[in-house]
Amino acid sequence: MTMNPDYNTRVDLFKESPTRKIDVIKEKLQQEGKDIILLSTGQPSIPPPRWAREKLAEELLEESMKLYAYTPTQGRKTVLEAIRRELEEHGLKLGEKQITLTAGGQSALFAAITVLFKQGDNVAVFDPMYFGYWPLLDYAGVNVIDIVEDIKQGFKPDLDKLEEIASENKLKAVILVTPDNPTGRIITREEAERLASLAEKHGFYIIVDEAYRTLVYEGEHHYIYKYAPDRVIALNAFSKDPGIPGWRLGFAYGPEWIIQRVKLVVQETVYCTPAIAQRLVEIYLTDRKRREEHIERVKQIYMSKRDAMISEIEKTLPKAEYVRPKGGMFLFLNLEEYLKPKSMTAEQLSLKLLEEKGVATVPGSYFSKHYKYALRLSFVSEKPERIREGIHRLAQLLEEI
Ligand SMILES: Cc1ncc(COP(=O)(O)O)c(C=O)c1O
Repeated sequence: MTMNPDYNTRVDLFKESPTRKIDVIKEKLQQEGKDIILLSTGQPSIPPPRWAREKLAEELLEESMKLYAYTPTQGRKTVLEAIRRELEEHGLKLGEKQITLTAGGQSALFAAITVLFKQGDNVAVFDPMYFGYWPLLDYAGVNVIDIVEDIKQGFKPDLDKLEEIASENKLKAVILVTPDNPTGRIITREEAERLASLAEKHGFYIIVDEAYRTLVYEGEHHYIYKYAPDRVIALNAFSKDPGIPGWRLGFAYGPEWIIQRVKLVVQETVYCTPAIAQRLVEIYLTDRKRREEHIERVKQIYMSKRDAMISEIEKTLPKAEYVRPKGGMFLFLNLEEYLKPKSMTAEQLSLKLLEEKGVATVPGSYFSKHYKYALRLSFVSEKPERIREGIHRLAQLLEEI
């Protein structure tokens, strides 16, 4: 190995994903025969509906290159049309060139940030925020201005603060995740409208991450794009619905001039997205009735798991603070009352919980500079009784420390 490798050290801003780090320890413990309760991952526990998989399986047996071939970078016309029609049902009007496929949500994030941001741009974010954004924003060299979302206010985005920031700074964009990872809060219609009007008034863009848009348990998802179509770039993934994270498919929609450039970033990184995933999604989106039934079933299951987690927290962790997630896959649990007096960070707790109690979680510090004593808990991947057991073990550990 060269002692002084000569390379672009900016890539060192890319760090191993925190959930990957946790996975490595988890896998080691599993190999040692330990049973690990997984409250760390955003991996869906329900595969795409059987009818869609059966149709795809039939097509896989055809003597054709269709499911194996390169596709246009933007995506096959038929799948783009299926997405366009689905969004139209929600009142969004999008032209052919305003949607592009991406290799999962992550590729949409990378491409949108690459296209939009220049070094030194001011970008407002709401803290806590999905950890995937932090390294990309560092890499883009932007000046991040964070706006803390108060747990006591249900993690509502503080739009007065955003307005103040936009009045005092030349703001390039704001990033918002709704339904949120890690907090599960969703934005209201009034918030969507206000965000849109602020963006128009102050001339900034809104990057809205809608990876969980169909997993809303209370209320409904509000599409900000409707209110400011020239200012909103929306990022989406098929990883959560219909649940194909390993097949790498997502999409971005927004103003044509941005989306056509996002497409070029996708072209230069992966050339095209998997043909097989495109076809599955097309089958899935086209049968609207059965898709609705599938989503309803998934939501019922996830909701009952969420409720199992909440009831166990209520029972065993009276001093913990949380906000009942209205959407998504996660609950953000503030354990400040337990950890601060012991001078223990969430990272230390999360590691101890995994190694000593066999429960995998993600420290809140990976999402937030502000919440140092929180854990992000996923309520989708385990069965309700194991979720309860996981919370029970967490409460036990907090008593022991
Ligand atoms: C809010 C959010 N955006 C984007 C992504 C990345 O999506 P994907 O797994 O499709 O790359 C995730 C993944 O968990 C996410 O939670």
